[in-house]
Amino acid sequence: MSTGFLWGTATAGHQVEGNNINADIWLLEQVPGTSFRDRSGDACDSLNRWAQDIAIVRSLGLSAYRFSVEWSRIEPAESQFSQAWLDHYARMAAACRDAGIAPIVTLSHFTSPRWFAASGGWSNPNAPQLFARFAERVARAFGGLVRHVITFNEPNLPLMGKWSATPIADPARTGLDAMLAAAARACGSDHYHVWVYSRGEHLETLLAGHHAARSAWKQVWPQSLVGMSLALPDVQGAGTQVGVEAYRQHAEAPFFAAARDDDFIGVQTYGRLVLDAHAIVPPSADAERTQSGDEFYPQALGAAVAHAHRQTGKPVFVTENGIATAEDAQRLRYLRAAIASLGTVRRQGVPVLGYLHWSLLDNFEWRRGYSQQFGLVSVDRSSFIRTPKSSARLYARLAREMV
Ligand code: NOJ
Repeated sequence: MSTGFLWGTATAGHQVEGNNINADIWLLEQVPGTSFRDRSGDACDSLNRWAQDIAIVRSLGLSAYRFSVEWSRIEPAESQFSQAWLDHYARMAAACRDAGIAPIVTLSHFTSPRWFAASGGWSNPNAPQLFARFAERVARAFGGLVRHVITFNEPNLPLMGKWSATPIADPARTGLDAMLAAAARACGSDHYHVWVYSRGEHLETLLAGHHAARSAWKQVWPQSLVGMSLALPDVQGAGTQVGVEAYRQHAEAPFFAAARDDDFIGVQTYGRLVLDAHAIVPPSADAERTQSGDEFYPQALGAAVAHAHRQTGKPVFVTENGIATAEDAQRLRYLRAAIASLGTVRRQGVPVLGYLHWSLLDNFEWRRGYSQQFGLVSVDRSSFIRTPKSSARLYARLAREMV
């Protein structure tokens, strides 16, 4: 096992495994009027091809692989745990170790079991205990194979669109209420509390869930390192810091405070966010864009990492960073610049545990389906054959040179 800086890639269960039928989001993909562009379906068939995925990480000479465990497989009905699925994920972690790769495990990457959503999701006061019980089962199953654990992936995401005193329209909300109502009907429930941590509407319960899961894990494996991963663009003020301060109070401060006793802070950066006093300032018309329409701004990474460390005093783990692009040459430029900006802040003394590129594979990008290519490796949509892109080789080289 590498004891130094970890270079790796990241995926998430629902986005790569396929046929995640007990998950809340699977249902949202199917309900009438869904705003999901595609259904996840077989995804990348990583449920069957996970060993091949790990072999690719190894062939690139990388030292870490982040994947998530699917709560809805492990506990498909409340209190009914599946030993077979616990064993499956433990086999993945063991295979990483055998390949000299540190497994980094996410406990909750946007999805929940349907029964959890139908029983109120994070509006249920009992949710922290339910989540902690699941975390404890996973910790026991892994038997010490996993050192780095991420409780929640981007729990601050729903709050990012709601920071302003004059709320800005949140495009992610379009059609959402109708979808949730249809999902509730399908479950025979009054409510369907899903879509990324109950949309941030029950923050105290969610953060209590983080704390409860962390303690549950640490009780089983006190020597492991536990944290959460936040969506952290490089937030810049346009002529004023008023909007930046309001944004930070709303979408960052409660999470930084909740990370007080964590072992690291997970940073996920894709670009910058420019704010005037009340709203987002769009990129200029001539700005270079990515496939998602976002501005190409790789140098955001160093600034976000330095900010997260300043605010928390914690070592930083870059648990995601990447770009959606059909032009691999653009990904090459992104990688070089993002990693260079990370190198700069490391040299300035910011402690960084590792860097995980999002993503290993072109995968299911939630509502945008398969239209976005974040992968270092392409995946044929009918044969699932994986083909590393030039960017995979360049990344492997950068990682080797910078160890
Ligand atoms: C962050 C999320 O964690 C991941 O699931 C998503 O695919 C990437 N960003 C790209 O949007």
